[in-house]
Amino acid sequence: MAIPTTQKTLLLREESTPYVVVETPVPRPGPKEVLVQIFACALNPVDHAIAHPPLSRMFIKSYPFVPGNDGAGVIVELGAGVTNAKKGDKVVFQGDWIATEATCQQYAVVPAELTAIIPDNITFEQAATIPLALATNVMSLYNQSPAAENASLRLKPVWEAEGATAYAGTPAFIVAGATSVGQFSIQLARLAGHNPIIATASLHNAPLLKSLGATHVIDRSLSKEASLAELAVVLGGKPLEYVFVALLDAEALRLGRDALAPGGALATVSPTPQRIPEDIANPGEGKRISYVFGSPRPPHNRDIGVALYKQITGWLEKGLLKPNPVEVLPNGLAGINEGLARLRENKVSGTKLVARPQETL
Ligand SMILES: NC(=O)c1ccc[n+]([C@@H]2O[C@H](COP(=O)([O-])OP(=O)(O)OC[C@H]3O[C@@H](n4cnc5c(N)ncnc54)[C@H](OP(=O)(O)O)[C@@H]3O)[C@@H](O)[C@H]2O)c1
Repeated sequence: MAIPTTQKTLLLREESTPYVVVETPVPRPGPKEVLVQIFACALNPVDHAIAHPPLSRMFIKSYPFVPGNDGAGVIVELGAGVTNAKKGDKVVFQGDWIATEATCQQYAVVPAELTAIIPDNITFEQAATIPLALATNVMSLYNQSPAAENASLRLKPVWEAEGATAYAGTPAFIVAGATSVGQFSIQLARLAGHNPIIATASLHNAPLLKSLGATHVIDRSLSKEASLAELAVVLGGKPLEYVFVALLDAEALRLGRDALAPGGALATVSPTPQRIPEDIANPGEGKRISYVFGSPRPPHNRDIGVALYKQITGWLEKGLLKPNPVEVLPNGLAGINEGLARLRENKVSGTKLVARPQETL
């Protein structure tokens, strides 16, 4: 199929306005990049938050701005020097906040080394649930780059032999386990051999979280004191040295901090210490804390990002990594504003909203 010269793109013309669908040129891949025809893009809370201050002023460099971090589709063109991909490959990838590289549009370019083949047992829509949420875990836990400073906990990656044994049999506590990020936190804890794996969520999500590897689910509507008491029963005296708080929320973070044993490791989804209360940023008792920019694109995240993208196909093929449950939005890109409104109002539970850009009228 010939590549068209224009495409449908979702974009923001100025701060705090709704996204609109417009025609834009189809980009061409540069050296070591591929052009992907996008069949599914998934929505994330940041896609509505970034349209407004303070995030718009932190992250949007120029307007119009194209959103979208999660993409899945088919490679339709190779840039110079690409040897590890071919036209027709079905791939999953993480977009960037650059007009030609974001995923809420019909075509985007992406570095070939940051794509993974989608195996036949996984749909485009399922694949699109993975990139940002999984990268947020991996960057928060495993990034060894000196430039990541105190951002990462620098744990051993689960895909290295040591990472699959170093934490085996030790408990893990995942606060907000039903978030998209939390569903991957549970699965990485399972791959690392943690046991027990305890998560908080609405109880209707308990079967889902247990299917991913949680051994116990604590009702997230309980008070902090009641949650800690239930946790203590499950731990049975074992020290809790690893907590992942998969939500940027002060109460969720306090629960994680207070559950953690002295000297333990607290992974957060906060990009900086400034975005969380000071009492959590300085947890005391030798507790370590991580911050994260959940993307393989910045230079300090690139090496661990490339390493991650080498794992995804095999994990999916073998059933070791399960995508989030999917709800497909109607009307292609034009359905995204409605989906973002539901995310903003906390009306989405345990599910990823996905749009099909090619179905945009
Ligand atoms: N720094 C980064 O680079 C980065 C990247 C991605 C995401 N994030 C952050 O990570 C967090 C998760 O993002 P996401 O896309 O995974 O979220 P999401 O899937 O949209 O989260 C929806 C889920 O949040 C859960 N939830 C809401 N309030 C909760 C609470 N008080 N305790 C426990 N669970 C609660 C609900 O669980 P139930 O349905 O079980 O009630 C719901 O299913 C967000 O705060 C986001 O901003 C940061």
